[in-house]
Amino acid sequence: MNRIKRLLAAAGLLEFARTTRSFVKGLSPALLASELRLRLRGAPDGFPLPPADLLFTVIATRWASTFLDSGARIVGAMERELEYAGRPLSNFDTILDFGCGCGRLTRQLPARTNAKLFGCDYNPRLVRWSSEHLSFAEFKINFLDPPLPYPDASFDFVFARSVFTHLPEAGQIAWIEELRRVLKPDGVLYFTTHGRQFFDQLSKSEAETVLKGGLAVHLAEEAGRNICSSFALPEYVSRHLLQGFTLLRFVPGTREDHLRQDSYIVSKDPA
Ligand SMILES: C[S@@+](CC[C@H](N)C(=O)[O-])C[C@H]1O[C@@H](n2cnc3c(N)ncnc32)[C@H](O)[C@@H]1O
Repeated sequence: MNRIKRLLAAAGLLEFARTTRSFVKGLSPALLASELRLRLRGAPDGFPLPPADLLFTVIATRWASTFLDSGARIVGAMERELEYAGRPLSNFDTILDFGCGCGRLTRQLPARTNAKLFGCDYNPRLVRWSSEHLSFAEFKINFLDPPLPYPDASFDFVFARSVFTHLPEAGQIAWIEELRRVLKPDGVLYFTTHGRQFFDQLSKSEAETVLKGGLAVHLAEEAGRNICSSFALPEYVSRHLLQGFTLLRFVPGTREDHLRQDSYIVSKDPA
């Protein structure tokens, strides 16, 4: 893995380095002005904004404008891809945001669907904030490992954006099976991975592993946290994660900010 990242982690400085980088990145008078406006007037969607430390925990930035803007872009792209897959968002009655964080994506949904909305995450602080401030959805805490606190066949649509990206192999396999369990027959799952757009974070030997259809994982011992990162291509995903699913659509990540992860839309096969 990236040697600098491991050295910083060993010295206990990785969190500090990430905070500083995210603060400096994109810093401009326009960003500061929009930040001030948002914090003083509130978000245009009418929902409260999470405190900066929660934003950082989830998306490694303290800027509320980035939180709102990236959420809108990601859900807009997901909605478009579902449409192309022939399974439009508007057709689902029950939706789960797995690994919902502090609701960056969940809060985009009331404007786009009348479905009953659910969110869950293993980080209790994020779930507590979401429960207290986003009353249009029902939020629950789960453990780092399955099961989820929902009965079999509960949801028409489950999405897990930027969650498998922070799980090592065993966690990915356990969770894909669990998400399959809570999906209704023919239900749809959307999830993302770090694919080709993230090769600049890999050493030569890690890139070779991934190109040969393997998984590379940074800081596997930090599973679930953003400092744990896993990297894989569709060959790996179809061999290890798609048992019991049919692939409806694969969307490679682009160079556009916030849309760099690869996305998979799959439907649950009959048992
Ligand atoms: C990069 S954040 C993305 C959050 C949200 N999906 C979004 O895009 O704003 C990853 C999220 O996955 C959550 N997470 C990681 N492992 C999890 C697990 N095993 N169960 C539930 N949530 C998990 C983390 O707590 C964090 O909120």
